[in-house]
Amino acid sequence: MSRPRVALFPGSFDPFTNGHLDLARRAAAIFDRVVIAVAHNSAKTALFTPEERVEMIEASIQGLKGASVIHFTGLLVECARRIGAQAIIRGLRAVSDFEFEFQMALMNRRLAPGVEIAFLMPSQEFTYLNSTLVKEVVRHGGRVTGLVPPLVERRLRERFRPAARGEARAKARSR
Ligand code: PNS
Repeated sequence: MSRPRVALFPGSFDPFTNGHLDLARRAAAIFDRVVIAVAHNSAKTALFTPEERVEMIEASIQGLKGASVIHFTGLLVECARRIGAQAIIRGLRAVSDFEFEFQMALMNRRLAPGVEIAFLMPSQEFTYLNSTLVKEVVRHGGRVTGLVPPLVERRLRERFRPAARGEARAKARSR
């Protein structure tokens, strides 16, 4: 029997959007297994903890055959090696993504020559979408229905409720 084709789809996913979901579906159509890997970067302030992000992604990919979610710290290529991934999936939305993705791809290739980097394009309707914009819209009371999975939308609204913001400020003051 031939070896299963495994792809690693990494990102911050803070939070997971329908653009990410679109890419995960495209990857799942090509690979036997797609492992979505939430990067835990302690140097970067995230809105959601890695565990919260994993939970939201798990709910969003229910029924997507071959897809699973993990979180990781450290080098991406080490994570790829651990799970036996032959490829790393990244999304390209616009030319503006290219430079950073190109640098990252070449560095990852240097670190792990056996792991291929594959770029996928999301559906056109998601080309302007990113997690930062989504957070900005909800923070100011806007709706993101159709741009993020339902659980993500709920969690964003809860996180940006005035009371929740007050609690977060009080917590920050007491530190
Ligand atoms: O969703 P993002 O923020 O564009 O994802 C970036 C991510 C997490 C894929 C990248 O920062 C990463 O790979 N981090 C793990 C550390 C690492 O391997 N860095 C070297 C990349 S060349």
